[in-house]
Amino acid sequence: MELLKEKIREVGVVVSDEVIKLDAILNHAVDPVLTTEMGREFARRYREQRVTKVLTIESSGIPIAFAAAQELGVPMVFARRKKTLNTDTETYCERVPSFTKGFVTDIMVGKEFLSENDRVVLIDDFIANGDAARGLIRIIRRSGAELLGLGIAVEKSFQAGGRTIRESGVRVESLVRISSLAGGRIEFE
Ligand code: G4P
Ligand code: NA
Ligand code: NA
Repeated sequence: MELLKEKIREVGVVVSDEVIKLDAILNHAVDPVLTTEMGREFARRYREQRVTKVLTIESSGIPIAFAAAQELGVPMVFARRKKTLNTDTETYCERVPSFTKGFVTDIMVGKEFLSENDRVVLIDDFIANGDAARGLIRIIRRSGAELLGLGIAVEKSFQAGGRTIRESGVRVESLVRISSLAGGRIEFE
C-alpha cells in the first residue's frame, strides 16, 4: 500500500535495528484519512470471504480494525489485556509473552463475542514475532470460529512472526512489509 509507505517514510522514527516508532499514525495519534484507506484495503482483500467479524487487540489495533469492519459492514471485537489471570468461565483467556516488552500479558475475549458461526479476520498494527497473533488465533480456534486470515498494517519481515504463521497455513495479508531497519534506514520489500 503505497500511501502507507509514504506516511511511514514521512513520520517513522527508527529507534533501533528492530523497532520503528509510528506514533503519528498508529500508536499514539490517528490519521483518519489514512486509517480509513487501510480499512478499505483490508476489506478489499477479504471481501469475498464472507467475513462476519473483525477481531483485534487493544489498543493500537482498534482504529484500523474499526475501519475494516466499517467497510465490511460487520462488527469489530477487541481482545482486552489484563494484568492478572482471569479464570472466569465466561471468557477465552490466553497468556502471551511480549518480546519487545519482556513480560507476559493475558489477553481475553468474552465468549459471547465469538462463536462457531463466525468467520473472522484478525487485524493488528504490527507483526513482529507473532506472539500476540498466535494468542488470538488460539482464542479463535477455541471458540470454534473460522479464521479467514490476518490483516497486518506493518509486517517486519526480518522477524519471524508473519513467516511462521503463513507456514502454519494461515493467510497473512500485510499492507507494507519492512525488510530491514538496520542503520536507521527503512527498507521496504
Ligand atoms: P509480537 O506480538 O508480534 O510478538 O510482537 P511483540 O510482542 O514484540 O510486540 C509487543 C508490542 O509492540 C505490540 O504492541 C506490537 O504491536 C508492538 N510492536 C512490535 N514491533 C514494533 C515496532 O517496530 N514498532 C512499534 N511502534 N510497535 C511495535 P502492543 O503491546 O499490542 O501495544 P498497543 O500499541 O497495541 O497498545
Ligand atoms: Na502496537
Ligand atoms: Na497491536
